[in-house]
Amino acid sequence: MSKLNIALIGAGRRGGGAHLPVIAKLKDVYNLVAICDIDQAVAQQYAEQYGATPYTNVRDLVAHEKLDAVDITVPGVAHHAIACFMADAGVNIIVETPIAVTLPMTDLMIEAAQRNSVKLEVAENYYRAPRERFLSTVIDAGVIGEVGRIYRIFYEGGYHGMSMLRLRANGEPKSILGIAQSTPVIPIIDRMKRHHTSDNWTFGFLEFDNNATALMVYSNVIHARSLGRGQGGISQIDGSKGTIVGEDIHVVPPEDLESGAKSVGYQPKRTMINVDGTEVIEKIELELPDQLITWENPLRHYPLTEGQIPVADELLSLANAILNNTEPKYGAQLGRQDQEMNIAMSESAKQSRVTLNFPLTDLTETERGIHDNYEGQHGHPIDDVEAGIDVFFPRQ
Ligand SMILES: NC(=O)c1ccc[n+]([C@@H]2O[C@H](COP(=O)([O-])OP(=O)(O)OC[C@H]3O[C@@H](n4cnc5c(N)ncnc54)[C@H](O)[C@@H]3O)[C@@H](O)[C@H]2O)c1
Repeated sequence: MSKLNIALIGAGRRGGGAHLPVIAKLKDVYNLVAICDIDQAVAQQYAEQYGATPYTNVRDLVAHEKLDAVDITVPGVAHHAIACFMADAGVNIIVETPIAVTLPMTDLMIEAAQRNSVKLEVAENYYRAPRERFLSTVIDAGVIGEVGRIYRIFYEGGYHGMSMLRLRANGEPKSILGIAQSTPVIPIIDRMKRHHTSDNWTFGFLEFDNNATALMVYSNVIHARSLGRGQGGISQIDGSKGTIVGEDIHVVPPEDLESGAKSVGYQPKRTMINVDGTEVIEKIELELPDQLITWENPLRHYPLTEGQIPVADELLSLANAILNNTEPKYGAQLGRQDQEMNIAMSESAKQSRVTLNFPLTDLTETERGIHDNYEGQHGHPIDDVEAGIDVFFPRQ
């Protein structure tokens, strides 16, 4: 297999911290040629560390490198400008989440990718985690029956949460009710170095076309696990035959169905192997009285930690799409749908808790506010890609 030349754009926490070590481990697929960051010291530091060429702007990057792919890990508000520019340069793209902050920004990216026949993958990592892949295998095997209700409380929300809720509901979203409240907190900097001065809390209630429903409670402070918030997250998937609580799979022995229907909680077992000094998940198994359910890690030959497996999976999804001229596994449309659901939750809250139906057809107040803010702050409209790529976008 020929190797693909890749550059990473935005070597901050997610780029330098999470993606670069994984790209380096996928050396049979990717050749990391360049690191581009508007902050020269950052570009220099990571380029030296990974033996790549540093750049401080994407114009120089495309002028000097022959690229097959770029990994865009700049702040979300900059995704559309950088992605459109790279697509116009004929380079395939993987972009961090959210795909973009509004739907018109997302559509600019999708149109640019289509216009230039380049692949566009979204680095949605939550469903790619071994734990979630294993739970998907359990649900697909019918262990808990038909999923009717999903609770994700004090877990990650936003577009990641929406992605998970849609996956677990196994249906298309029909409508959403959102409630939001903002309360002050003392100024804090979380473990990811994000700054918070308020707790922006949201509650979402979703209905799917297959009658499944989902309930989500989220806030930036819960996500940060700061101030003691969200220490005990509640993840519960209720099915017609059983329930998944966290990682425990609850089913009722047939003889107990008419005498209390108390469940037995089964815990999955992880088998680890050592690959080049890294403890790697080989498989996760669930032993039920009449069934053995196994999820095998397809990337078990790579020295990847549990947290690195989703990042490798998304990077390999793009590589496969490029090499076989197929569509990436997640792709822009699902990334767009996650953000559509997320925006709709905010918008419902803004519109005094009106239930909104999908798909959203008009520009929301939420998005209009983001566009106005963007133009006010940077002095150009969102579709001025040439101006956008030169802006330094700091993380909020
Ligand atoms: N999937 C996940 O679980 C997850 C987790 C955290 C962050 N993210 C996403 O990853 C992305 C990056 O987040 P982060 O925390 O690493 O941000 P960050 O601020 O730490 O890093 C972003 C980097 O981009 C650089 N940059 C800014 N504007 C630029 C420009 N015009 N050209 C080139 N470089 C530029 C900055 O100098 C910085 O080094 C965001 O989209 C965020 O939403 C995803």
